[in-house]
This record gives sequence, C-alpha cells and structure tokens, in this order.
Amino acid sequence: MDMEKKKILMVCLGNICRSPLAHGILQHMADECGLGWEIDSAGTGNWHVGQQPDKRSIRVAESHGIDISGQRAQHFNAALFDEYDLIYTMDRNNYKDVLRLARNETDRKKVQLFLPDGEVPDPYWDDNEFEPVFLLIEERCKDIIRK
Ligand code: 4NP
Repeated sequence: MDMEKKKILMVCLGNICRSPLAHGILQHMADECGLGWEIDSAGTGNWHVGQQPDKRSIRVAESHGIDISGQRAQHFNAALFDEYDLIYTMDRNNYKDVLRLARNETDRKKVQLFLPDGEVPDPYWDDNEFEPVFLLIEERCKDIIRK
C-alpha cells in the first residue's frame, strides 16, 4: 500500500461486530510499526450509533491484547469520503451501500472489499464465530501492513 494512504475507514452493517475489530486490529498493528496511520470505522445501518462495540467483539479483542472498548458506533455518510484515503467494506452488501453514496469517481476509487476475494461473515447471530472472525481479520490486516 502507498505510504500516503494512511487514513483508513472500516465499514460493516452495524459497526458493532466486524468493523470495530478491523479498526482496532489494524490501528494496533500500525501503531506497533510506527506508521502514523489513523483508522476508524462506521456502519451502513444506524441502529447502534453511539454504542460501544458488541461485548463479544470487545472480549475477543481483549483476549488478543487489543482494547476496543473506547470505540463508539457511527453511521456511514458521504462526508466520510473526504476524510479517508481508503474505505474497506466487510461484505458485498456494505460495498454496494457505500458505493451508492459515492458522489464522484474519486469517492468510488476509495472503496474496496476488505478481503480481496471474499466477505467477512457476520458473527452477530453466533457467539462461536467471533474468534474465527477475529483471526480472519487479523490475517488480512497483516497483509495490509506488509503492503
Ligand atoms: P456488524 O454486525 O455489521 O458486524 O456490526 C451486525 C450487528 C448488528 C446488526 C447486524 C449486523 N443488527 O441488525 O443490529
């Protein structure tokens, strides 16, 4: 990844399960490498605005040494295209929903699927999915840092 791409927004549906993990993990790794990147996250849905991440995401991150409890959910909106260099969406629905709000080609070019050939499954309905989702996101974050 270009070194100037340093403001990154992670997007999922609720902004309480997947994107807070991606936000916390990538910020942690970037900080450890002294990259000076700023990571944040948002949701395409507005149900959880202002809330902490899901307790199960907080817990799994904590078990891997990362504190995401200070995060608060925000609703994705078009103004965020101006603030970020790169916008990663956790699944294809989020991708479509974000692209729908793009105002021009500059906005559109910033949007990518977080997993180049797939989706991060939504763990919301299955407590046992949080650990595998953490590991999946962690692997991809390592790749992003390496590039
Ligand atoms: P997330 O998971 O998109 O990974 O934050 C979800 C959280 C909440 C809901 C859906 C998905 N919900 O419908 O409230």
